Amino acid sequence: MDYILILGAGSDIAQELAKLYAEEGYNLYLTSRNLDLLERLAKDLQIRYQIDAKPLFFDATSYETHSEFYQKLTPKPLGAVVAFGYLGDQLKAQKDFNEARKIIETNFLGAVSILEIIANDFEERKAGFIIGISSVAGERGRQSNYIYGAAKAAFSIYLQGLRNRLYRSGVSVLTVKPGFVDTKMTASMKLPKLLTASPAKVAHDIIKAWHKKKDEIYTLWFWRYIMLLIRMIPENIGKRLGW
Ligand SMILES: NC(=O)c1ccc[n+]([C@@H]2O[C@H](COP(=O)([O-])OP(=O)(O)OC[C@H]3O[C@@H](n4cnc5c(N)ncnc54)[C@H](OP(=O)(O)O)[C@@H]3O)[C@@H](O)[C@H]2O)c1
Repeated sequence: MDYILILGAGSDIAQELAKLYAEEGYNLYLTSRNLDLLERLAKDLQIRYQIDAKPLFFDATSYETHSEFYQKLTPKPLGAVVAFGYLGDQLKAQKDFNEARKIIETNFLGAVSILEIIANDFEERKAGFIIGISSVAGERGRQSNYIYGAAKAAFSIYLQGLRNRLYRSGVSVLTVKPGFVDTKMTASMKLPKLLTASPAKVAHDIIKAWHKKKDEIYTLWFWRYIMLLIRMIPENIGKRLGW
């Protein structure tokens, strides 16, 4: 069975997604900067689902390593999922450019660096799929998270353009826009229960959309309409809201 490459496999959403792909019999390349965690994850998936799961080191911001990382994958994957991301600290980023840069590099530049390499291969092979986990935060700039939001907005537009480019090669690109998800990324935040999804639910939504060859999904589904309303708020009102 084909391999699927999950970049940022330590993410809570990605761990659930890995289970679903394993359940369908796919072999997995799992990447993280935390190899201990990956070894455990890979072992668990191999035993439970009788698939092959290979733990691999990958740092999204070590751009110079990306080409060799991908070249070494044998066989080449059928598809790739970008799940890594970094929420960061908005207030810190306003005072310390290193934090702003880390947010932008992890959520945007790192993804572009590895995805261009993967896209070139898929385009040449005229096969494959790419899934990118962006965020509803990229749909409107807000004082509370505009640096993360700007990086995710750039990532969403990037994925849209990539989908446009790869369409004629038969390569699909799915943009995932989660709202609130109960993961380690949001562990210190008080999230509204009714609007918050579990990582397992988000992973199910992703797999369902992938099977249906969708271009873009919001998860939970109603975030599409919440964001539609939020985008409709005129700028001269939006700027007065302390959100
Ligand atoms: N949770 C939410 O509410 C929410 C909402 C909207 C969108 N999202 C997006 O959904 C995706 C998954 O989120 P999550 O909540 O499941 O995340 P998470 O559990 O916090 O995990 C994020 C992962 O990103 C990886 N990562 C961070 N910097 C990296 C780097 N430089 N190189 C490689 N990996 C790096 C970390 O991997 P290692 O430390 O293991 O290397 C970590 O496992 C992210 O892109 C996130 O922005 C999340």
